Amino acid sequence: MVHIPKTSWPPPFRVTRASHLTYSVRDLSRSREFYTQVLGLVVSDEERDTLYLRGVEERSHHSLVLKRTSGTPACIRTGLRTYDEEDLDKAKSFFAGRGLPAEFVEAPYQSRTLHTFDSSGTPLELCASMSRVERVDQKFEALHGGGALRFDHYQVTVPDVEKAASFYAEFGFRIGDYMMIGDVPIGVFLHVKDTLYDVVFIRRPGPALHHFGYIVSGINDIIRACDVAGSLGYGDNVEFGPGRHSLGHSYYVYLLDPDGHRVELLPPPIYYGDRDDGPLVYDLSGVSRVTESWGLPPRQNWLTNASPFEGVARTSPPPGGPEPSLEAYLRMS
Ligand SMILES: [Fe+2]
Repeated sequence: MVHIPKTSWPPPFRVTRASHLTYSVRDLSRSREFYTQVLGLVVSDEERDTLYLRGVEERSHHSLVLKRTSGTPACIRTGLRTYDEEDLDKAKSFFAGRGLPAEFVEAPYQSRTLHTFDSSGTPLELCASMSRVERVDQKFEALHGGGALRFDHYQVTVPDVEKAASFYAEFGFRIGDYMMIGDVPIGVFLHVKDTLYDVVFIRRPGPALHHFGYIVSGINDIIRACDVAGSLGYGDNVEFGPGRHSLGHSYYVYLLDPDGHRVELLPPPIYYGDRDDGPLVYDLSGVSRVTESWGLPPRQNWLTNASPFEGVARTSPPPGGPEPSLEAYLRMS
């Protein structure tokens, strides 16, 4: 009997979406070029050691914060938005009640911000609001590369998918797709907004940040981002795709930024907002194509490499995984 974690409703506090990430990078000017020219993100603010970026459709100040480091580039923190300030206080009680560190901090351009961790060790921050900035999606003369519209989701690798899914379901995350191999959960799409995913967990050594996704208008924008990547010398950074996911329902391309952090571009996702849209469970035992509907499977790097969380050790799940790499696929051909 498959056990699917049940979403608590009403939730103990209200989360509206996955909204932003903070990474460290070695060279801010190279990262600035990559994210503004290839993805088409907009610079909201630039300080000596920090760059604040957003999609062209976004009125929130930032969805990606890059901080300069002379050490190992890492993901510093993942970000969720709550409905209001009162939810932040309820969130603090929720996390503290589970023995997790939870403290309010000051973060630039954000409301009061709660720093905490999830049950897998993922560093999290929650805020209710950000400074407002101009939406520039119709300033067509200023659009670059993929013209990325808005932040959509992020994917975290964890050794125990069921544990991660149960924790997020406790505060209102709904499960879209739930992937199993036999009786072992290997992946879960969790969401609070009306599309398929905000936070995705996949069974691999972790916690680590596998990728984050920005929405683009369509497949042409994905191709345009790849073209710009190629002409700026980032051709090798087009890691996987363009292609179409089997689960996940969308076209994709995965790009590696200059520090190896991975970003996905995808067209607007399917609607998944009706309360009776329950979880769909897939047993992927013996399925040869887990990630892609057609074309070549992902490189080994896509399957095994993820950005570490700063100061957070990873643990490994028991061996075994369903996904053939491109390298294995070519050896079989
Ligand atoms: Fe994704």
